[in-house]
Amino acid sequence: MKKNCFKNFVLVSAILVTFGTSINAQSKIQSDSIQNKMQWFADAKLGIFIHWGIYAVNGISESWSFHNKEISYPDYMLQLNGFTAAKYDPNQWADLIKASGARYAVLTTKHHDGVALWPTAEKSLNVVNGSPAKKDLLAPFYKAIKARGIKAGAYFSLLDWSNQDYPGFLKDSSRYKISDDPIRWTRFKKFLDHQLSEIMQNYQPDLIWFDGDWEHSAEEWDAMGIRRKLLNYNPNLIINGRLMGYGDYETPEQNFPVTRPKFKWWELCMTTNNNWGYQQSDTHWKTPYEVISIFVDAVSNGGNLLLDIGPKADGTIPKEQVEILTELGKWNRKNGEAIFGQLGGIPQGHFYGPTTLSKDSTVLYLFLHGKTSGQVMLKGLDSKIEEIEVLGNASKLTHKIVGKISWSKVPGLIYIDVPEKVLDPYITVLKIKLNQPIRLYRGNGGL
Ligand code: GLC
Repeated sequence: MKKNCFKNFVLVSAILVTFGTSINAQSKIQSDSIQNKMQWFADAKLGIFIHWGIYAVNGISESWSFHNKEISYPDYMLQLNGFTAAKYDPNQWADLIKASGARYAVLTTKHHDGVALWPTAEKSLNVVNGSPAKKDLLAPFYKAIKARGIKAGAYFSLLDWSNQDYPGFLKDSSRYKISDDPIRWTRFKKFLDHQLSEIMQNYQPDLIWFDGDWEHSAEEWDAMGIRRKLLNYNPNLIINGRLMGYGDYETPEQNFPVTRPKFKWWELCMTTNNNWGYQQSDTHWKTPYEVISIFVDAVSNGGNLLLDIGPKADGTIPKEQVEILTELGKWNRKNGEAIFGQLGGIPQGHFYGPTTLSKDSTVLYLFLHGKTSGQVMLKGLDSKIEEIEVLGNASKLTHKIVGKISWSKVPGLIYIDVPEKVLDPYITVLKIKLNQPIRLYRGNGGL
């Protein structure tokens, strides 16, 4: 009996190691080999995604609207004429991103519509030659965020539905099949290669966020070749997973994990309403509370959140998004200790809510949703509590151990007293200092 019980005690570091060695079944990249360069990303937790493009002019879906024939291709492209960027203030954008607490930002350099936000030397669509914006929109943005210590991410669509050498176009019509015209495909890949070189050389991003890999195989894209080439420019570049298995981390989109993903590094990308780009008619805003609780949930499950905003065609950011980022930032300033640079939390079942752990696992953070007060329960904790405090508040909390049986190895239940007066308007964080790296009882009580 005693022996069995002992088996059920687990050092959380062992659990973390187990998570740590897991890799995506589809990934061709060994996680151990990229451990060092991934560290800033693992610590960063929060990124801001920015979908900015000509689709903001009419307020229609980015690229998909013509691909899915909701608008004709020529009409879609007429939006170029309305893309002014007249009030674009990259320093203001960067201030807002900084204030949100985000550690990195990813801007759409080119979406599936093929419209580049920089003066590409390729004879292709770009807002510098083709729209009243008439300037490089990337350079001042990357300069502004880097000056504030925010890592620079470049979203780049591999597929380009505007390029005449690209096979795909509308949902029910393509230009050609690669097998029928491999030379044309090679020409497209050269174009792709040149554009990626421009991004790498001109803007020196820390992260490349690919999208649109799904229309071709890893062999057709030469995904390994693309990866190698990018890493030649910058061996520490982080590449997201949308490169047919040749990226560094996974990017679930809009879908929230219920059980902890097995990936070592992952990032949930999510909109603040229901669309990536600016759409005036979309008023389905998530509230600051909803965004913060989703953020905490992702971090507690070992992931990051890449939260999207969609600026208008004149470069202003919708006020609802400013408010969400501002509130998130306030919360982060008060509670960020439990988030940034920490680890995903303890396995489910010990506490009915999200948790995180310090890297040495001597501090456990509990996140209390909504208006949770009264006695909060923690199960199976086999380390001694030295102190419980509420983040952003000097109060120390008391606790009681219930049901500890002298002859049993099973720890008692811990009830922490949380008075209403310490509650955060969104999510309250309890910081529990332990006498040693956390030990957990993971058994079934002997049944
Ligand atoms: C999807 C869409 C695209 C969007 C992206 C963001 O892959 O194709 O429109 O930019 O997700 O994650």
